[in-house]
Amino acid sequence: MTILDGKKVSNDIKEEIAVEVSNMVANGEKVPHLAAILVGTDGASMTYVNAKVKACEKIGFHSTLIDLPEETTEDVLLQKINELNTNDDIDGFIVQLPLPKHIDEQKVLMAIDPNKDVDGFHPTNVGKMALDLPTFLPATPFGIMELLERYNVETSGKNVVVMGRSHIVGRPMSILMSQKRKAGDATVTVVHSRTKNLAEITRGADIIVAAIGISEYLTGDMVKDGVVVIDVGITRVPDDTKKAGYRLAGDVDFASVSPKASFITPVPGGVGPMTIAMLLKNTLLARERHG
Ligand code: GUN
Repeated sequence: MTILDGKKVSNDIKEEIAVEVSNMVANGEKVPHLAAILVGTDGASMTYVNAKVKACEKIGFHSTLIDLPEETTEDVLLQKINELNTNDDIDGFIVQLPLPKHIDEQKVLMAIDPNKDVDGFHPTNVGKMALDLPTFLPATPFGIMELLERYNVETSGKNVVVMGRSHIVGRPMSILMSQKRKAGDATVTVVHSRTKNLAEITRGADIIVAAIGISEYLTGDMVKDGVVVIDVGITRVPDDTKKAGYRLAGDVDFASVSPKASFITPVPGGVGPMTIAMLLKNTLLARERHG
């Protein structure tokens, strides 16, 4: 069994990007600048956004964090987005999801200039992704593709089961892996909360991408020997033995699944760090495209 070490691979990618940033500085070019908007004080979102900003600093990008209170109106948020759209100094930006309930997420995502949409969530970029045209790929699926590729995991002709149909992971993952591309060329099945005989389907999978947001849902009896398992889930499970009062759990029950797996991602240290690395890659790409 091989652990797909997202932490290591993401560090490799960050080092590769840092070299490019050094070259930009040596040539007197402007370095990439990423901005992130966070609305509210959701603990997980704050952790993610801070990690993104810290990663920027580490590799030499400029970064700006725009921290807005929970009660921010949709209009004020749209105004902020417009400011970032028109600010030539900003190469790319993200609006951390989820947003407070009183804000229409779709309206917000549609307000982002597709050329600065380094999350790849704007309908224009989702459409380009579906048509396999150059665009910003959403960071989590992009990171999973990169991880599979760097570990030379064979995907061509394989049966892939994507668990979950979210707009930011499951859906794009299923599209990318079915495409004729590196880490693609697979036969993809999407399963979700309404799927019948789910375990029968997962037992037929060569590769499983678990992105349903239910901790330790995928268990050993639901997979076949030699399966490749990508765990996208990350939930806080109460645990009195930990100082923080919780532990981080994925969508996969690692204890029962890992003995049967040929490759498996850990949680934490698997998909999570890859997401951040690919966001940085998209920001570098945005800088290069803006010229
Ligand atoms: N919330 C969970 N994942 C993501 C992501 O990749 N980007 C943004 N903006 N919000 C998220």
